[in-house]
Amino acid sequence: MARHELRRYRQRGLPRTARDLVELAGDVRGATVLEVGGGLGTLALELLAAGATRVTNVELSGGYEEAAAELLAERGLSGRVERRVADFAADAETIPRHDIVLLHRVVCCYPDAERLVAAAAARTARALLLTYPRERALTRAGVRAVNAWLRLRRCGFRTFVHPFAAIAAAAQAEGLAEETRRREGPLWENAAFTRGTTLAGVSASSYRESEPQERASERAADATAEPRRRRGEDDVTIDDEDQEGRSS
Ligand SMILES: C[S@@+](CC[C@H](N)C(=O)[O-])C[C@H]1O[C@@H](n2cnc3c(N)ncnc32)[C@H](O)[C@@H]1O
Repeated sequence: MARHELRRYRQRGLPRTARDLVELAGDVRGATVLEVGGGLGTLALELLAAGATRVTNVELSGGYEEAAAELLAERGLSGRVERRVADFAADAETIPRHDIVLLHRVVCCYPDAERLVAAAAARTARALLLTYPRERALTRAGVRAVNAWLRLRRCGFRTFVHPFAAIAAAAQAEGLAEETRRREGPLWENAAFTRGTTLAGVSASSYRESEPQERASERAADATAEPRRRRGEDDVTIDDEDQEGRSS
């Protein structure tokens, strides 16, 4: 898996959602970066290239370490990146504040979004940048299908669509302000929360609608799903059955 991701990164660079997080981060010269659940840590590498001074990567799975070390050595960046294998939500107290904190496609891999985001927000000096699945019928259906497949394969890992309101409330309770939300295609959304500053190039509370044509059909699909959600039939935010068995 890590080898496959390394090959893909070498061939294609960052995916679009990650490129847009880099753009959202604005001027990172001199900044410190904490990447939570960073996998190989490619997003933070791009911020180092853009002038960030050092990076801490806290990743639950030890499976990335060998490939990540190879990539860092290849780029001559080993001395500027500290990698820890840990559950960030449990170990956050041991990690100092960093200017920029990244959670790229991580909230959807953790059952307790509030705890994870609160821990990340508390370690944020300037900006918390996240990518998470959009709350819509399509992503909920996708998450249900992925979880069914994982269950069939007897894998304890599950994916989640957490409500944005819960993510925002956790960040705001730690003193961050919501600065922007950006749709990133049909599945993902990026958001930035800041502490006592604004990010260059981002207008306050902007909400970029990157797929205007797609939105009418989305609204129709979501409207159909809404009565089911209210009755609890479509609630896949937490897959209660398997939480104790999650692994990465
Ligand atoms: C879908 S992957 C994304 C990896 C990377 N951010 C990227 O976009 O390429 C989610 C990652 O989050 C990690 N993760 C999930 N919960 C975590 C936690 N509580 N602490 C640290 N890492 C976590 C998983 O191990 C996994 O590597």
